[in-house]
Amino acid sequence: MTFPVVGMVGGGQLARMTHEAGIPLGIRFKLLSDTPQDSAAQVVGDVVIGDYRDLDTLRAFARGCDVITFDHEHVPTEHLWALEADGIPVRPGPDALVHAQDKGVMRAKLDAIGVPCPRHRIVSDPADVERFAAELGGGQAPDGFPVILKTVRGGYDGKGVWVVRSSKEAAEPFRAGVPVLAEEKVDFARELAANIVRSPHGQAVAYPVVESIQVDGVCDTVIAPAPDLDEELAGQAQQLALRIAQELGVVGHLAVELFETADGRILVNELAMRPHNSGHWTQDGAITSQFANHVRAVLDLPLGDPRPRAPWTVMANVLGGDYPDMYYAYLHCMARDPQLKIHMYGKDVKPGRKVGHVNTYGDDLADVRERAAHAAGYLRGTITE
Ligand SMILES: Nc1ncnc2c1ncn2[C@@H]1O[C@H](COP(=O)(O)OP(=O)(O)O)[C@@H](O)[C@H]1O
Ligand SMILES: [Mg+2]
Repeated sequence: MTFPVVGMVGGGQLARMTHEAGIPLGIRFKLLSDTPQDSAAQVVGDVVIGDYRDLDTLRAFARGCDVITFDHEHVPTEHLWALEADGIPVRPGPDALVHAQDKGVMRAKLDAIGVPCPRHRIVSDPADVERFAAELGGGQAPDGFPVILKTVRGGYDGKGVWVVRSSKEAAEPFRAGVPVLAEEKVDFARELAANIVRSPHGQAVAYPVVESIQVDGVCDTVIAPAPDLDEELAGQAQQLALRIAQELGVVGHLAVELFETADGRILVNELAMRPHNSGHWTQDGAITSQFANHVRAVLDLPLGDPRPRAPWTVMANVLGGDYPDMYYAYLHCMARDPQLKIHMYGKDVKPGRKVGHVNTYGDDLADVRERAAHAAGYLRGTITE
């Protein structure tokens, strides 16, 4: 059997959906998961339960894998170097991945290659935050506040990001003992994402640029393509993402989170080097999904067509609500909208936790949005009819 084995580190929903995309291709998966209950561990046949922070565990896991890829960005960089030294292809490689692991490293690199970003610098303590705010001046309030503070490592879904209005509010981010990045608070018109996939031999495909709407720092809705986006700006965003991937040597899926300013500029917020929430719409809305293309890329297979299947696709995340049993809601959702696509992750329902998403598509954006919002709200329990 010459079919390769893809080793996936991390057992979350991204691993679950990447595995799903590999099934029709006959690709075999091996999973390193924290617990047997993790989203992907429930469905992958070959699961190793272990700690990705332990090099011996990683090494034992990697034996028998043809390539290693990831569900998250938290594997220590030096461990990935060790795996590469053992001769195991790691995709994306550690030198690329570090830019998605560490927001300070990412900002420094983007500055060096001339990519537009919010003004920023590493700050050492609350007094330094006040100095940074004063340096901003200009468009901000006279004292420069509010500013955004971010721990450079370990954050996700808005955890690790603070909006602070004074140096008094700035103590919290320093408590974790991780370096803190300060950024100007961008007064953006909306958030966009440019998603691309790149393979080791340098082939790349770009998905349509999408609009991503966050609520309380968590992605809520994604609209593909971004409505009324200037064609030239969309092209610029795709080119920017392709250039970043090339300069950083990214292999696999790269999400470039962007801010669109009121005067029609784009600034890079952050990078993710794995399938990304802003690309979930591609499962039902694109000819080749981000997950299928990530699998192809890490195996250095030719990439699939990224073009959309319908004029509009909308993805809405399903967050946990007060009712633990979402299956009960299927009856109503499926009856109301036979075109609805539901993707659940097998996770316990906890308030605010991402437990699934829905995709809808069609010709009329208002209708497509309404159907996605309705289904997500009904599953969560915030809509009852
Ligand atoms: N410099 C900024 N200006 C304005 N809003 C920001 C800025 N940085 C982050 N945000 C807001 O916070 C959200 C989460 O920040 P991000 O850096 O993407 O962290 P995470 O790793 O949690 O996704 C962003 O999607 C955006 O809504
Ligand atoms: Mg983000």
